[in-house]
Amino acid sequence: MNNEIKNQTIFKNLLIETERLIIRPYQLEDTTDLFNIISEPNFYDYIPETPPSLKEVGEIIQWSMDCNNKNTLEKIYKLNLGIILKESNCFIGFCGLGPYDLDSTKIEIYYGLKKDFRGRGLTTEAAKALLDYGFSTLRLDEIVTTVFPQNTPSVRILEKIGMTKQYSIITPPKEHLDFQGMDYYTISK
Ligand SMILES: CC(C)(COP(=O)(O)OP(=O)(O)OC[C@H]1O[C@@H](n2cnc3c(N)ncnc32)[C@H](O)[C@@H]1OP(=O)(O)O)[C@@H](O)C(=O)NCCC(=O)NCCS
Repeated sequence: MNNEIKNQTIFKNLLIETERLIIRPYQLEDTTDLFNIISEPNFYDYIPETPPSLKEVGEIIQWSMDCNNKNTLEKIYKLNLGIILKESNCFIGFCGLGPYDLDSTKIEIYYGLKKDFRGRGLTTEAAKALLDYGFSTLRLDEIVTTVFPQNTPSVRILEKIGMTKQYSIITPPKEHLDFQGMDYYTISK
């Protein structure tokens, strides 16, 4: 098997299991569950993006599946993953790795969870497992992210998974003004 095919197999067969969760690539059947989660009130309060419609969520999932067919250890286009709660087999959130908007040579981590399941350490469990997977299996040297300091639960997750604040983004490039005021965090292998 040549290296590229071997690399792609890693992404297509990706499944991360933790004590309470299964983390696996998006599937088209996730569309409604994902839309319902991200449509909950205040979900986008600290995310510098516009909430997508149901149709757009379907397109994002299809695009994520296409990215996963192209992802290799050398280049991750986007690795969007669903978080499934083992005890109920329900889709309760997402996490992922992808190029960082302000510097596409770097890989960022992101996550979100359905309101009913928050405050139980589940996102921390998912994010920690994804970091470990990124460093061990995907052989990343560094993972970065940005967070608004007012997003206290998210800041707490970053602290718990060992990420360190490097600086605040005071003057982002003009095409990314919505990153103004975010803090930039990193962790190395
Ligand atoms: C951020 C988010 C994923 C957190 O999910 P979660 O499953 O509740 O996170 P966890 O339970 O793993 O950890 C949350 C931590 O924040 C703490 N926390 C929650 N609300 C808090 C508050 N208002 N003040 C202080 N700490 C708070 C929790 O106590 C917990 O810390 P602990 O384990 O030390 O007690 C969830 O709020 C979310 O989906 N938000 C919308 C999307 C989003 O903002 N994503 C991140 C973009 S950077």
